Amino acid sequence: MTQSSALAIILAAGKGTRMKSALPKVLHRLAGAPMLAHVLRAVEAAGVVRGGVVVGPGMEDVGQAALSVDPKLDIFIQPDQLGTADAVKAASPGFEGASGPVLVLYGDTPLLRAETLKAVLGELDAGADLVVIGFEADDPTGYGRLLFDAHGRLAGIREEKDATAAERALTLCNSGIMAFRSAKMLSALLAQIGNDNAKGEFYLTDAVALARNADLQTRVVLSNAEEVLGVNSRAELATAEAVMQRRLRASIMANGATLVVPETVVFSYDTSVGRDVTIEPNVVIGPGVTIEDGVTIRAFCHIESAKIGPGATVGPFARLRPGAVLAKDAHVGNFVEIKNADVAEGAKVNHLTYIGDASIGAKANIGAGTITCNYDGFAKYRTEIGAGAFIGSNSSLVAPVKIGDGAYIASGSVITKDVPADALAVSRPPQEEREGWAAKVRAKRTRNKSK
Ligand code: UD1
Ligand code: CA
Repeated sequence: MTQSSALAIILAAGKGTRMKSALPKVLHRLAGAPMLAHVLRAVEAAGVVRGGVVVGPGMEDVGQAALSVDPKLDIFIQPDQLGTADAVKAASPGFEGASGPVLVLYGDTPLLRAETLKAVLGELDAGADLVVIGFEADDPTGYGRLLFDAHGRLAGIREEKDATAAERALTLCNSGIMAFRSAKMLSALLAQIGNDNAKGEFYLTDAVALARNADLQTRVVLSNAEEVLGVNSRAELATAEAVMQRRLRASIMANGATLVVPETVVFSYDTSVGRDVTIEPNVVIGPGVTIEDGVTIRAFCHIESAKIGPGATVGPFARLRPGAVLAKDAHVGNFVEIKNADVAEGAKVNHLTYIGDASIGAKANIGAGTITCNYDGFAKYRTEIGAGAFIGSNSSLVAPVKIGDGAYIASGSVITKDVPADALAVSRPPQEEREGWAAKVRAKRTRNKSK
């Protein structure tokens, strides 16, 4: 039997009150993407169809975030949070007619890997009717405990609040992720789930005991605790971030990049890093960044939505903002900020500079303290600097303005008009000297002082 038609339902209707946040829990970010997006990506990578996401009333932003990952998703609204079984019921229009298995996942377990979901599909292939991902918890508090019969078969799940003291001592726990052989079987189990328990909720976990009563095959796939960490608080969010960063660093190093002090570099879920890249300590990389082969990022840089071409060097202390595109062998040095600008091959912007809404031609040299004045308080304007141009230190280029190829801007100029190719533009007060002025003043002041 092939599992290609497996379908996933992701529950995300809970408010996540322990986050103490105006933002719904599953929209809190890990490595630059909402937790929910990580779950959706793992589902896709496992070859499972992303069927639907269950949200609460008024949680349009959660639906939007899900749709931005996959526009084909169905968003279901669970009117009242009556429990996880009720949430799955809310999504039943999404799976009722499905021919393959149905997986139920929670939006707050963002570290789940596709490999583990594939192992679950494998158990279904091998004949299981209901599969639960379980894990051995150091501290099982708050989790449902897995119960086994005398033959070692999964017999049920007991929620913490309903557990006896002996059951609470068990440490093999429910991750929350469950798979059902068929939509029909899931619907039949859901119909039998009641709310006669400590919380008065409809627990999806009751499906396990009901399945056993119906003589169905129940199995557990074990995962490590880290992978199924449920994020309920800011502290758990930080723990999950640490795990995510460790994974990203490991894969980036495995691809041939050197991280001098790996634990000080922060990546995003989509950071692309080539070979023979060196990243020095204390670098933060936001979403949408591509770093090609042979790039050096020196210490203390902040980079987001930027492309860095092969052999380029950036930093120390540089900031690349969205739309910064550095071509091959470009140099961006210390205390330089670049936004929405192309820096062509071999161009140098080495010190104390702001380049925004601009293009810099190949091999141009931008002197220390150059500012592109791109904003007049109302709109943004472009600055175009030609190939091989030389911008003297401390120049202001008031956009919109074009500096031709090979042109030369004298230091300290304020440039408000286009400069033709190969011309010199000087725009600063001419220098004036007063012979002997300093000596005269000094002599006078010294005399007054000694009186
Ligand atoms: C649940 C499991 C527990 C498991 C734990 C793992 C049940 C009854 N218990 O407990 O066995 O060990 O997860 O983390 O399933 N949700 C809805 N609608 C609801 C209720 C919940 O969409 O009415 C969603 C939440 O947004 C969340 C997920 O379901 O994504 C789990 O709900 P939560 O309240 O966090 O369950 P736990 O008490 O953690
Ligand atoms: Ca939870």
